[in-house]
Amino acid sequence: MPPALRWAEPPEGPVVVLLDQTRLPTEEVELVCTDVPALVRAIQTLAVRGAPLLGIAGAYGVALAAVRRFDVEEAAAQLAGARPTAVNLGYGVRRALAAHQAAAANGATPEEAAAATLAEARRLHQEDAEASRAVAARGLALLDELLPGGSHRVLTHCNTGALVSGGEGTAFAVALAAHRAGRLRRLWIDETRPLLQGARLTAYEAARNGLASTLLTDNAAGSLFAAGEVDAVLVGADRIAADGSVANKVGTYPLAVLAKYHHVPFVVVAPVTTIDPGTPDGASIEIEQRPGSEVTQLTAPAPAGAAATGPGSGTLVAPLGTQAYNPAFDVTPPELVTAIVTEAGVVSPVTAGGIAELCARSRQV
Ligand code: MRU
Repeated sequence: MPPALRWAEPPEGPVVVLLDQTRLPTEEVELVCTDVPALVRAIQTLAVRGAPLLGIAGAYGVALAAVRRFDVEEAAAQLAGARPTAVNLGYGVRRALAAHQAAAANGATPEEAAAATLAEARRLHQEDAEASRAVAARGLALLDELLPGGSHRVLTHCNTGALVSGGEGTAFAVALAAHRAGRLRRLWIDETRPLLQGARLTAYEAARNGLASTLLTDNAAGSLFAAGEVDAVLVGADRIAADGSVANKVGTYPLAVLAKYHHVPFVVVAPVTTIDPGTPDGASIEIEQRPGSEVTQLTAPAPAGAAATGPGSGTLVAPLGTQAYNPAFDVTPPELVTAIVTEAGVVSPVTAGGIAELCARSRQV
């Protein structure tokens, strides 16, 4: 699969090149961002998306501004404000900006400061790839412990694979590890309305990796649980608050309720950069509200060769003028989460103390 994001040096660059996720699965088309406004647009239209990758994109965006001699502070503010919920975006931006500021404070030339900023973005990219490997191993070990039978039927929501990461992703990377170990019987994929990240992106990644997978509408999940067809739920996260509340793609919370009712483990997989100790609880997480047109119109991927129209510009499925409620994320309270798997360790049961301990441990690594 083409990389979800790459930095290109001259003569192609300096540019940030994205695999345009609005065009998948019908076309693998790269989107070239030559400046920060283009990258901000790509973030807002979800051409680049998913918490860890947003962090990486934010860091490279700051590097792009530095290399091209734009106002780095202004670029950082624009990038950090592009979407509100995934905490990784602000984290990536801050890390790159701090590298730039530190270099400038040490008397670096603009070229040297830009090089330091780019190096920091590359470091973050690399760290996320390593985190991805570690969560996959830890997540599989946890699955094996929770489900001793060794043949797992896993339900997932949204998209959490290589398209959102410097590596193979978070929740999807665990499913992939189970598949490679011969222990994934089936990956159930929620289509993930309204923007179909499950249908368009996870089903695409599952097919490319040869996973046994089945797509379902989000509202079919209940009957699947009732039929005893789900052994575990694996999802990613956009932000984990200090009390262990998890913000993730809208539709995650109902799955957690279903999992609790049916006594099925509900596992969240995320890098530690998704934990925000500065957000005390779920109610404090800002939830992105997106245009109602994404709900009143069916978004289909652009047919091969056609111009992409972007989210919410498809076939009208509600009367003109219908108001729609379209939060991009919801919050799952910690008592519904069996475990949070990170590269620095597993928190289970999920408590504020467990999260604080994990954060302290990860700072020492
Ligand atoms: O709106 P999106 O597509 O950026 O939402 C993405 C998700 O909700 C993912 O589940 C989350 O970022 C975790 S990705 C490892």
